[in-house]
Amino acid sequence: MSALAETLTVRDVRTTDLDAVAELERISFPVPWKREFFASEVGLAHRFNRVVRATDGKLVGYVFCAFAAGEIHVNKIAVDPLYRRRGIAGLLMKEVLDFSTRILAEEIFLEVRPSNLPARNFYTLLGFREVGRRPQYYADGEDALVMSLFLQPRRP
Ligand SMILES: CC(C)(COP(=O)(O)OP(=O)(O)OC[C@H]1O[C@@H](n2cnc3c(N)ncnc32)[C@H](O)[C@@H]1OP(=O)(O)O)[C@@H](O)C(=O)NCCC(=O)NCCS
Repeated sequence: MSALAETLTVRDVRTTDLDAVAELERISFPVPWKREFFASEVGLAHRFNRVVRATDGKLVGYVFCAFAAGEIHVNKIAVDPLYRRRGIAGLLMKEVLDFSTRILAEEIFLEVRPSNLPARNFYTLLGFREVGRRPQYYADGEDALVMSLFLQPRRP
């Protein structure tokens, strides 16, 4: 564990996190989810939603996932710009990978903008591969690349 990771708290998202989540979302995405959308995800069944907070309480990252039938879909992941390139998204994805082991998931997938080279690089380094393209997926008309990480078959 890095020196930074030792000072961070990772836990399930709570309603009290939502203002900070929505603010980080707003500065991280060209077409951000609204606070109400995140709120509707908290507490739903078949969700894995985690936040990272620094020792001073500042929210520095989050991941929102849905899962069903052996698949985990990463809906959102973001890290505060002042904390990027310090392994926090890696920490969040490790949470997702550990969770995938617990539920015996077989695949993790997500959509990413072709223009989002930092995220594509990040996912590729984790072992994700491009498996498809959804035309005009985003509200501003940009396509989405579908990226998938196939996990070891865990079902008997
Ligand atoms: C993508 C994002 C979540 C990465 O978060 P992060 O905490 O900076 O990522 P990490 O520090 O764990 O990066 C791990 C590796 O991914 C790659 N990577 C991350 N950001 C990168 C960038 N800007 N350019 C190139 N490679 C990058 C690097 O290989 C990095 O390792 P290194 O720093 O040792 O070179 C962050 O940039 C972000 O919040 N972006 C805005 C929201 C977003 O686009 N989310 C994804 C939507 S699909």
